[in-house]
Amino acid sequence: MNDIAELLDREAAPASSNTRKVFVKTYGCQMNVYDSQRMADALGADGYVETATPDDADMILLNTCHIREKAAEKVYSELGRLRKLRDQRRASGSEMLIGVAGCVAQAEGEEIIRRAPVVDFVIGPQTYHRLPQVVSKARSGDKVVETEYAIEDKFEKLPARDEKQVRARGVTAFLTVQEGCDKFCTFCVVPYTRGAEVSRPVSQIVAEARKLAASGVREVTLLGQNVNAWHGEGPNGREWGLGALLRELATIEGLDRLRYTTSHPRDMDDALIEAHRDLDSLMPYLHLPVQAGSDRILKAMNRKHTGDEYRRLVDRIRAARPDIALSGDFIVGFPGETDEDFEDTMRLIRDVGYAQAFSFKYSPRPGTPGADMGAQVPEPVKSERLQALQALLEEQQSAFMRGLIGQTMQVLLEKPGREPGQLVGRSPWLQPVVCDENVGKIGDIVTVRITRVSANSLIADNREVEP
Ligand code: SAH
Ligand code: SF4
Ligand code: F3S
Repeated sequence: MNDIAELLDREAAPASSNTRKVFVKTYGCQMNVYDSQRMADALGADGYVETATPDDADMILLNTCHIREKAAEKVYSELGRLRKLRDQRRASGSEMLIGVAGCVAQAEGEEIIRRAPVVDFVIGPQTYHRLPQVVSKARSGDKVVETEYAIEDKFEKLPARDEKQVRARGVTAFLTVQEGCDKFCTFCVVPYTRGAEVSRPVSQIVAEARKLAASGVREVTLLGQNVNAWHGEGPNGREWGLGALLRELATIEGLDRLRYTTSHPRDMDDALIEAHRDLDSLMPYLHLPVQAGSDRILKAMNRKHTGDEYRRLVDRIRAARPDIALSGDFIVGFPGETDEDFEDTMRLIRDVGYAQAFSFKYSPRPGTPGADMGAQVPEPVKSERLQALQALLEEQQSAFMRGLIGQTMQVLLEKPGREPGQLVGRSPWLQPVVCDENVGKIGDIVTVRITRVSANSLIADNREVEP
């Protein structure tokens, strides 16, 4: 999962002058984007409306990420800025609440208030349904830290999604189906910040997906830290995996496109691969992180598969769905990584071929086994390797995009473009496609021909073509 949250524009509902306003700032992965929406909806039921800037907010909620040191530190610099804003507010006689949610909240708890006393409340991802109570306590002047793992199901307790809000957010939506992780990769904080793996029940997911479709959503991305480990009891009394769930969701009228992220290679079972073969609405794009190509490093990372096992898996997926585009995550400079190990990663990237990828320098995280391993790789070596790896991945990405020039494809129109007269949609392979506004309206799936590539976008011919 990747830092896309900040790139997403979220529309705020208009507010009258006497309603309370909340500004939610989201860091980290798509699951945080989803959680921010659910929290905003819960606060909406409590009388708050969302606002797009901190300047006129009565409450600021930071939904944070702990995955790498830089991500976690960003929160404290933001809190420093907010302290100034709050001081100004107080000088003019008004108040502002500041809350920290998300994975830093879970990982650091009270420590956040110790380090940044400007914070009024801290709330972990398992307890968002208690947000209204936490806020009301904080408003009465108590500092609140709510990070115990709840026994109750937060999704069941959160207010249902608000149709108006869903509409305002557009024609694509996230839907978290699985949370937490039991895999314990030795570099990763997620099992500690999000807790053990939990799957939401089929009935809850289907009901939420239907509601999204009824509110104008045409594309749903199922989310989970290990989304393909999702399992639940189906209406037939049998255990369902993600493949069966996708088949069910594909029958919902109006939901024309399905995606899911993030997958672990060990959980790509036959039923899921067959869903890619059989379901037209399941988009031909798969985010399948491998992290590294060296078997020694994969073992030290506790990924529990080899480079060749990953290659064979990719072959099986491509046999089922030949036009599938792959994306991945890579870490360079894991403890003990030698030049040869790094070369193995480069070789794997060349063998597989990615349409898109995210890559990071290893960041030692307190409390994870990797942080205590010897042979930490020096920073300059990490930087050098990251540069080489990104150059290769960028080359592959631009080759993939150039390969789409001249093709016709279906595009879901999502929003106005930067220039007047443009609409921007998404290709089946997730690239933004800049179209002329006369091809259709937002929410339409239109067939267009790609004429050229510009930076990370595809540019379409100025008319719709016959499918
Ligand atoms: N559940 C997903 C990944 C979630 S974290 C999976 O198993 O693939 C998103 C990405 O952040 C990871 O894929 C990894 O590439 C990166 N990441 C996680 N911990 C990291 C760390 N300590 N240092 C650098 N990158 C890290
Ligand atoms: Fe982290 Fe590994 Fe779990 Fe992914 S599978 S969330 S990388 S521990
Ligand atoms: Fe970050 Fe937590 Fe997501 S650590 S990547 S926000 S699960």
